[in-house]
Amino acid sequence: MKIAAFASGNGSNVEALVKSGIKIDLLICNKQNAYVLARAKKLNIKTYVVVTKNREQRVFEQEMLDILKSNEIELILLAGYMRQIGATLLDQYEGSIINIHPSLLPAFKGPRAIVDAYNYGVKVSGVTIHLIDSELDAGTIIMQEPVILDEGISLEQFEQKIHEVEYQIFYQAVNKIIKERK
Ligand code: GRF
Repeated sequence: MKIAAFASGNGSNVEALVKSGIKIDLLICNKQNAYVLARAKKLNIKTYVVVTKNREQRVFEQEMLDILKSNEIELILLAGYMRQIGATLLDQYEGSIINIHPSLLPAFKGPRAIVDAYNYGVKVSGVTIHLIDSELDAGTIIMQEPVILDEGISLEQFEQKIHEVEYQIFYQAVNKIIKERK
């Protein structure tokens, strides 16, 4: 099964997936200066930058779709891709786009989930791996794992705990999907 990752920023989840043994055939990044580009280079992942800023979604998603189709991609992993997926990609890849979100959905949707959960004062948050549909941070849940916020935990420590769990369950969920769909 050929797999693409989409990312916009740091790229630690992409690196963790590769180091756990998931073969990522290509990376699509929508930010020219994202650190994930340096990681991808080191990991020898073929990379495409498709700028999304100030462009129509239909147009940049068509560009992405052409890349995905010409590389025969069957599964898309959103690993910190900070844009919502639109109809152009969803129509072609419905049921095959997996997102990682740093909260126990449906709590704390949106791009600031870690900070929002921390500021709310929750005692338990976590990580969700789910399929994408047309709603933001919705879609069938594949896997969830809780993270406990111990008394006095700092935001940085909480973020660290979230990321450690992300690296484990993203791999487990992707591995499960690959095996099921073989
Ligand atoms: C992760 O926390 C992920 O859950 C969220 O964006 C962050 C990406 O981190 N969607 P990184 O770029 O993989 O380091």
